[in-house]
Amino acid sequence: MEIVHTIKELKTKLQVQREKGKTIGLVPTMGALHAGHASLVKRSVNENDVTVVSVFVNPTQFNDKKDLEKYPRTLEADCELLERIGANIVFAPSVSEVYPEPDTRVFSYPPTDEVMEGRFRPGHFNGVCQIVSKLFMIVEPNKAYFGEKDFQQIAVIKAMVADQKYPLEICPCPIVRETDGLALSSRNTLLSEAERKIALNISKTLFESLEYAKTHTLTETKYWVINTINAIEGLEVQYYEIVDGKSLSSLNDWRDSDYIVGCITVFCGSIPVRLIDNIKYKESK
Ligand code: PAF
Repeated sequence: MEIVHTIKELKTKLQVQREKGKTIGLVPTMGALHAGHASLVKRSVNENDVTVVSVFVNPTQFNDKKDLEKYPRTLEADCELLERIGANIVFAPSVSEVYPEPDTRVFSYPPTDEVMEGRFRPGHFNGVCQIVSKLFMIVEPNKAYFGEKDFQQIAVIKAMVADQKYPLEICPCPIVRETDGLALSSRNTLLSEAERKIALNISKTLFESLEYAKTHTLTETKYWVINTINAIEGLEVQYYEIVDGKSLSSLNDWRDSDYIVGCITVFCGSIPVRLIDNIKYKESK
């Protein structure tokens, strides 16, 4: 496995591979890798000749400076994991390498990028599109892999790919959970042991809501989830929306779509840590 820090070096290496007819898989990450990322990388390794994993904490997608500062950075451990699971190239550039000057491009895909995370983290998806589009242009992958924990992010990236006509396939990969249900997230490392136990109630409530939904309306289910989680000390729901899995528009009735997903963001603990999760009530893609 090679670790590359500059765009020029990465492009040169990938051009050699492309000329040999090799396919390229890209897994964009911000590091602090866990088993969720590993599942994306393993899938890319299975499906492509060359797998590139980018490790870059992208400043333009953080609308909160403190959040950016406290984001975990563990490049050495990340590289050890990536080597073990068969990644070929780690691309770990500096901020000035990626943004030699400020990126002023504006990506806008309403309503997909305006609801939920878009509403509470203004500019976040613009930053995600800036970095992901740069990575797509640098790496020119055949396939790119993203985790479904960031369900809305995948919808926004798909909109950008269609808009910019990038010739690649977006491969969504299922959420990976701890055996007790907690969705894996780099932010989990910021939780104390006690907070982690409290955070478990998020996935537990979402799973229980699948049963509740069978005998209740969509609106009743939505508020049941919000009220159940808010009743737990140390948790505060920022939003819970039950949406159409493609358009991400909010739904009022279970009959209004055949692809229904509940997306939640919860603040956990005193600092607090912002955790996201989602659950599929109906699935048809
Ligand atoms: O999902 C993430 O970790 C980031 O948003 C991504 C896609 C790597 C862009 O920085």
